Amino acid sequence: MVVAKVADKVAVIQNPHLVNNNTGGKSMSETSNSDYLIEMTNIEKIYKMGGNSFKAIETVNLTIAKGEYVAIVGPSGAGKSTLMNIIGCLDKATKGEYFLDGVDTKCNDNKLAEIRNNKIGFIFQNYNLLAKLSILDNVLLPLLYLGYTNKAAKEKAKIALEKVGLGNHIKHKPSELSGGQMQRVAIARALVTDPQIILADEPTGALDSKTGKEVLKMLEDLNNDGNTIVMITHDREIASHAKRMITVRDGHITSDEINEKGVTA
Ligand SMILES: Nc1ncnc2c1ncn2[C@@H]1O[C@H](COP(=O)(O)OP(=O)(O)O)[C@@H](O)[C@H]1O
Ligand SMILES: [Mg+2]
Repeated sequence: MVVAKVADKVAVIQNPHLVNNNTGGKSMSETSNSDYLIEMTNIEKIYKMGGNSFKAIETVNLTIAKGEYVAIVGPSGAGKSTLMNIIGCLDKATKGEYFLDGVDTKCNDNKLAEIRNNKIGFIFQNYNLLAKLSILDNVLLPLLYLGYTNKAAKEKAKIALEKVGLGNHIKHKPSELSGGQMQRVAIARALVTDPQIILADEPTGALDSKTGKEVLKMLEDLNNDGNTIVMITHDREIASHAKRMITVRDGHITSDEINEKGVTA
């Protein structure tokens, strides 16, 4: 079984429950005293292509507290994905400071992957499910990366799938599900590790509007349960479902507003 093979490869990764504060064993010098979950100071990202370089984001200062539901919105090319990749520890800034849950993300790639696996749950536009695996195996995979046993991972994955209303479909393959169901699997996979932040990149982008609304409702419920959510979208209507809307344009944050509709929704 594919999952068992993956488990062998990742068995060396520390069990997060053995690490103090679940921070991957941070030391004092690597920590911030702030209460913010995300704390970015003067973040800049330059892409180098051949002899040219391109500044995709510049002097981004951003703080997000635990329990917030934030949308990052802007037109295509604004720098949203670049910012998301940095927030999600998938890429590093060229300049500036980024503390995630008090931990400095200026570290080597292995350490960055460890922070990412422990603290972030991802939801992508195209679900990013593994086609050959059952939805149960898709959802339990992040737990194997964290060092859970197969048995413990299975139990936890089943609970996550029940939470998104797919408890009766655990043996199905992704191709046997609708788009909305696949996105619910992706939500279960994001949730299963109890991450500090759920990062959703255009989570409704591939769905019809009715199914998109169901996914947005699910994100809202997760936020009401105390989860911190950062959603990336080009669509202001979708962004208006969040409680705070940050607009990005040409690599800069151009506005940061509390969303009355999101707060009362
Ligand atoms: N890997 C890359 N190499 C070079 N330029 C890039 C790369 N990724 C993104 N860019 C450029 O950076 C800018 C911001 O891109 P991106 O963050 O993907 O914007 P958005 O997600 O808002 O559409 C765009 O002009 C894009 O062409
Ligand atoms: Mg993008």
